[in-house]
Amino acid sequence: MNNQHFKSINIGNVTIKGNLFLAPLAGFTDKAFRSICIDHGASFTYSEMVSAEALARKSEKTKKLTERAENEKLLGIQIFLPDADTAKRAIPELLRTNPTVIDINCGCPVPKVVKNGAGSALMRTPEVAKEIIKTITGETDIPVTVKFRTGWDLDSINYLHFAESAIKGGASLLTMHGRTRSQGYSGEADWESIKNLKSNFDVPVVGSGNIFSAEDAVKMMETTGVDGVLFARGAMGNPFIFERTKNLLLGNESPPIDSMDIKIQTAWEHISKAVHYKGEQTACREIKKQLCSYTKGEKGSAALRNKIVRAETLKDYKEIFEEYLSL
Ligand SMILES: Cc1cc2nc3c(=O)[nH]c(=O)nc-3n(C[C@H](O)[C@H](O)[C@H](O)COP(=O)(O)O)c2cc1C
Repeated sequence: MNNQHFKSINIGNVTIKGNLFLAPLAGFTDKAFRSICIDHGASFTYSEMVSAEALARKSEKTKKLTERAENEKLLGIQIFLPDADTAKRAIPELLRTNPTVIDINCGCPVPKVVKNGAGSALMRTPEVAKEIIKTITGETDIPVTVKFRTGWDLDSINYLHFAESAIKGGASLLTMHGRTRSQGYSGEADWESIKNLKSNFDVPVVGSGNIFSAEDAVKMMETTGVDGVLFARGAMGNPFIFERTKNLLLGNESPPIDSMDIKIQTAWEHISKAVHYKGEQTACREIKKQLCSYTKGEKGSAALRNKIVRAETLKDYKEIFEEYLSL
């Protein structure tokens, strides 16, 4: 039994009862999906990455990204920004969103973000990342956490130095994705470096990269000693991964979750929540990618996905799902 691995985590002055984190995933971890993941056992969730500059300018669209679902008592708001000055200007609006934790994105590889000095560009300027964290921790007791990569590229692996700077700035938790910026999301994530990070610092460490099953999550905990694990692509269309992992860690039986029926029922719950939060028209338009991910790899699912792509109303989706239930 591995239950010494399922445990609470203290992030600064906040205690989280569990260590199974849902990753920030731009375009994916909206309120509806986060809510579904909480229903299925996620211990903590993050918003999609939010532009601190847009928050400072009080963008209504950006503020919406920071709202909580009804069952979301805790929420980490992740911001991306290039410098401490932007942090300073964003703080009043950021605090208005009432985050449980404020996370600084130092891992996004997208050129549009990086060219402004934000996201993984901060891996090349650890002093700037430190100043950002220091500026925020200087104005609030809300814990500040940081999510970063192993380095900019394989020739500039600097996660230990980066983590040291972040902690000096006041970071309460480190989440590391075991890839460099140049690696993007491909290839094996480097868990050895995650283990090395954990063994060098006292603040809690959450590991990210290549967690596609409950078994992967348990293996990462066992082999690296991390305090928590971050589910990213492995949670897309698969919120069951949280309860599976928890059950595996606690030595409990997992419910049978692999049937097409359960996936479709969960996809239906997902769209129902999305309609509740966004209204029918927007939800039906934006949710296709998310719904398609539930049945990826299932026999006959390509035809189902073709129908999802053409659906326009909730009624359309209902008819499609009913056709596939109990096939
Ligand atoms: C579509 C997509 C969107 C992502 N968006 C974010 C984001 O907004 N903020 C962030 O810190 N990481 C983001 N990530 C990175 C993930 O949080 C995670 O660290 C990464 O996918 C590695 O984990 P995996 O190999 O288990 O998927 C994103 C990844 C993907 C695939």
